[in-house]
Amino acid sequence: MKIAIAFYSFSGNTKRMCLFLKRHLEAADNAVDLIEVKPLKETTSFLGQCRQAVMKRELELAGVETDLRNYDVTIFASPVWAFTFAPALRSYLNKIGSLENKKTACFLTCGSGAGSNKALGDLENILRIKGAHILFSKNLAGRKSNDKDFLEDNFKSLFEILK
Ligand SMILES: Cc1cc2nc3c(=O)[nH]c(=O)nc-3n(C[C@H](O)[C@H](O)[C@H](O)COP(=O)(O)O)c2cc1C
Repeated sequence: MKIAIAFYSFSGNTKRMCLFLKRHLEAADNAVDLIEVKPLKETTSFLGQCRQAVMKRELELAGVETDLRNYDVTIFASPVWAFTFAPALRSYLNKIGSLENKKTACFLTCGSGAGSNKALGDLENILRIKGAHILFSKNLAGRKSNDKDFLEDNFKSLFEILK
């Protein structure tokens, strides 16, 4: 299968998990493209980031692939920011077209976990509004991004689904 992993990561946790997924899915004979979403001007202060997340701010993004039509499956990932997901991924979702009948999966990485269920619900809602089928959806502790056993365990059902 041809799989895209579209993600935003500020401090690296989400990205490490995406790299883990890429390695695993490639080992299972899939072709995997990482689509790293970055704002042209990245806000680095915690309060500024929270404000942008809460306000659902639309950010200008550095050029990335937005045509997902050729992928069999797209995986979306982001950190939880202020009880929702990061504005960079939200802005990316605004830029891509319909996901009508597309197979998708999504996950978020979080700190304490506060607001993470609400955040995941926000992301799922947008994917559903775009017509996507959501095969897998999960919140994961960002501090576990280097823990291979944890990642294997938590992504096991996704690997099964994509077999
Ligand atoms: C601006 C900001 C807001 C955050 N808000 C939350 C939150 O509401 N709930 C939570 O559990 N973690 C929160 N976190 C922690 C991140 O979700 C967590 O560290 C995540 O794994 C970071 O991913 P990254 O390294 O890919 O950027 C926040 C972090 C930042 C920088």
